[in-house]
Amino acid sequence: MKLWGGRFEKETDSLVDQLNASISFDQRLYREDITGSMAHAKMLGARGIISQPDVDAILEGLRSILEDVEAGKVEFTAENEDIHMNVEALLTQRIGDAGKRLHTARSRNDQVALDFRMYVRSHIPVIVDQLLHLESVLCEQAKKYQTAVMPGYTHLQRAQPISFAQHLMAYANMFSRDVTRLEDCAKRLNECPLGSGALAGTTYPIDRRQTARALEFDAPMSNSLDGVSDRDYALELMSALSILMMHLSRFSEEIVLWCSWEFKFIELDDAYATGSSIMPQKKNPDVAELVRGKTGRVYGDLMSLLTTMKGLPLAYNKDMQEDKEPVFDAIDTAELCLPVFTAMIDTMTVRTDNMRKAAGRGFINATDCADYLTKKGLPFRDAYTVTGKLVADCAAKGKTLEELTIEELKTVSDLFEEDVYEALNLENCMALRSSYGGPAVSETTRQIKAIESFVEERTRR
Ligand code: ARG
Repeated sequence: MKLWGGRFEKETDSLVDQLNASISFDQRLYREDITGSMAHAKMLGARGIISQPDVDAILEGLRSILEDVEAGKVEFTAENEDIHMNVEALLTQRIGDAGKRLHTARSRNDQVALDFRMYVRSHIPVIVDQLLHLESVLCEQAKKYQTAVMPGYTHLQRAQPISFAQHLMAYANMFSRDVTRLEDCAKRLNECPLGSGALAGTTYPIDRRQTARALEFDAPMSNSLDGVSDRDYALELMSALSILMMHLSRFSEEIVLWCSWEFKFIELDDAYATGSSIMPQKKNPDVAELVRGKTGRVYGDLMSLLTTMKGLPLAYNKDMQEDKEPVFDAIDTAELCLPVFTAMIDTMTVRTDNMRKAAGRGFINATDCADYLTKKGLPFRDAYTVTGKLVADCAAKGKTLEELTIEELKTVSDLFEEDVYEALNLENCMALRSSYGGPAVSETTRQIKAIESFVEERTRR
């Protein structure tokens, strides 16, 4: 008979059992479930709701179950539906009647709300650490390439000169925001739902502050209906992970481009690339492609739970059992992608020669040419037009701006003098972009330091 079989005269249909059971995936929550039950039992004892010998038996029983689960000695059954009933059934098998007293003043809605929240809470620091490691690797790489000129792009058209360090630090800043988004989620989720009961609290004199404290929450959740039906934390986590994956995916897209023969800005280490079964020459950026590909499934995970929740009346509804798989999947995906991606970045070879070559074509110093004329007194809009003419002239002749002779330059403006060649030199164009946040070495140095102290602050905690 089911734990809840009291009012039923028939067994459930086996297809209903299949539909209903969640043990195949929620068994991941065994540790949270057992820890939550221990805190609940101690509180029941402290409040005189169950006897101390019962509490001791429950704690001992739960400890032995935890040990056995961790040793792989426990077979969960779909008969007992989910992790909560599996643990309770095991406990009663092992310690008898005391086990049946554990569920006093508590519901499964309570349990699942608590366990799931604790599971999400425990994975945030894991992902944060992975992000911090990625940021450190980006800083190390950036330090090596602060003077390496590469074309910066808009519309994937060569635009203005930047350094490879500047490009990498752009991503480091995104990953810092991902970290703070996750920290923010961790802060907000840290209220304890346990003691909400099925939905309406309980008539027993429970102490919700005690269980909240024991389980390291900042406070009990304020409203019992909200306690059992809130899944915001899971949505917030998946939103943060979706944005994080979007960042990894944009970066991946660039890795894929940079690996191509058309760019060849980088070469991936053999350990982080794959071959083709038919084309012997191929070295493919599968890691980057898979990270880009898996971004879609994390978005899907987020959409799945948003959709599950959107029409649900208060409080708990069984639909909410569908919350777990997407969250597990999103966490697993992020935790798999981050370290592989980091190692790929850490081990890549950077072809600064090809970056420099690409920077040399595409007139990325055209803005600097216009700025040169502007500084000599021409209004910027006129300088822009004059430079545009020069670019068209160069394109026709197959020359770069700095390859034009001073005579050729003077045909469009007699403001041009010998010093224009200094102004058009790409290294100078990059170095002079020293406005706050720009690619000049002084600025990338500042950016790298800022990210390093962001990481350090958090690894010291
Ligand atoms: N397995 C359920 C879930 O994941 C636990 C809560 C069940 N509560 C209930 N009233 N049926 O949501």
